[in-house]
Amino acid sequence: MSETASPDPELFDKIVNLSKRRGFVFQSAEIYGGFRSTYDYGPLGVLLLRNVKDAWWRSMVQERHDVVGLDASILSPPQVWQASGHLANFSDPLVDCTNCNARHRLDKLDDPNVCPTCGSEGTFTEAREFNLMFKTHAGPVTETAAEVYLRPETAQGMFINFANVLNTSRKRPPFGIAQIGKSFRNEITPGNFVFRTREFEQMEMEFFVPPAESQEWYEYWCQTRMDWYLDLGMDPAKIKLRAHDDDELSHYSSGTSDVEYLFPWGWDELEGIANRGDFDLTQHATHSGEKLDFFDQANNERYVPHVIEPAAGATRTAMAFLMDAYDEEVVNGDTRTVLRLDHRLAPYKIAVLPLSKKDTLTPTAMEVFDSLKRRWMVDYDETQSIGKRYARQDEVGTPYCVTVDFDTLDDRAVTVRERDTREQDRVSLDQLEGYLAERLS
Ligand code: GAP
Repeated sequence: MSETASPDPELFDKIVNLSKRRGFVFQSAEIYGGFRSTYDYGPLGVLLLRNVKDAWWRSMVQERHDVVGLDASILSPPQVWQASGHLANFSDPLVDCTNCNARHRLDKLDDPNVCPTCGSEGTFTEAREFNLMFKTHAGPVTETAAEVYLRPETAQGMFINFANVLNTSRKRPPFGIAQIGKSFRNEITPGNFVFRTREFEQMEMEFFVPPAESQEWYEYWCQTRMDWYLDLGMDPAKIKLRAHDDDELSHYSSGTSDVEYLFPWGWDELEGIANRGDFDLTQHATHSGEKLDFFDQANNERYVPHVIEPAAGATRTAMAFLMDAYDEEVVNGDTRTVLRLDHRLAPYKIAVLPLSKKDTLTPTAMEVFDSLKRRWMVDYDETQSIGKRYARQDEVGTPYCVTVDFDTLDDRAVTVRERDTREQDRVSLDQLEGYLAERLS
């Protein structure tokens, strides 16, 4: 990519087609006509998504001494959302067109007086605030008292467990709590494939710091999060950090920056990094009556920590990596599609391919598969010509293909083909694991 990257609108359909054709993402409830804006992750998609989440967890939790993990419940009582402000403010303004009955988000209309569905002017109703949280009932009763919500973000789980984690983990500010999990929003305008859906996965971390250090840590996390995407191979020309203007900031935030990616429809958000001050802990302390602060013995001072929050979408990020890795090149007059995914994100790391389906090769090919499967996700494919099988593996980003041929039976060696260069090496079976380990590290 050059420095002046521009969006590639055609890429969108290519990714949607590849996702369906190769089993990354399926329309949910497809056999019943499909459930709009909801998706199921197929055999390859579940691996890609898991690898994105693993890479995040590794860098945010495993490789840090100052961040611990959490897996909080999805169902939560109204008190949580009252304190967080979501019951009052987590809404979008909706208007109905009295001519065609279409419903639109007022803040997304090009012209607030013209209905984009039927073109009529001045036919909108007064705007109504539409709360985006999904509400349901706990237990067999449907009374208001039994109302609960599906969380619209994972973040509140970290705030309401602040004291539990502080008292059990021996961490002290600056320290963070990280969580990956599903969130639900009754989005009025879902779309762009898995970019905006009603059910999605988030990867969020709340980093609690002494108030005087908040700006320093905010800058640190902006940089650290940008580096994460770049380290996993994202094209530097297609990713940027955009600081919010003052009029975009929440009233409690003294700084927010979005990590944006150049999607086929233009620049759009992958992740938000916010300096949230002491808003969340103070709100929950006030509403619950519990102390949510920290006593710093060294300085003999009690304070409410400030929070820096890097909040990313796992499903959205997986799609961005898919788009970023997609490449087409002409080889000997044919177009080859190749996903140049970082090894850590590739669904399968290796494919074992017996040259022919003949019984004579199967035992050795299975022996190779068995020797590698403990360490890596390995695909095994023995149908079609070897050329077609290489092409299938290139298209889903498998870094190495290991071919077992008739010579293998004599020389105990296999051909290893690398995805990006298509270069091949002959490697003896007793060296194979070490050869791959060196390259897949
Ligand atoms: N706790 C702060 C928070 O939730 P957000 O900007 O609303 O902030 C964080 O969400 C990230 O979650 C977004 O940057 C995006 O990647 C992802 N996300 C939010 N809504 C989404 C949706 N409807 N579908 C897919 N991903 C979504």
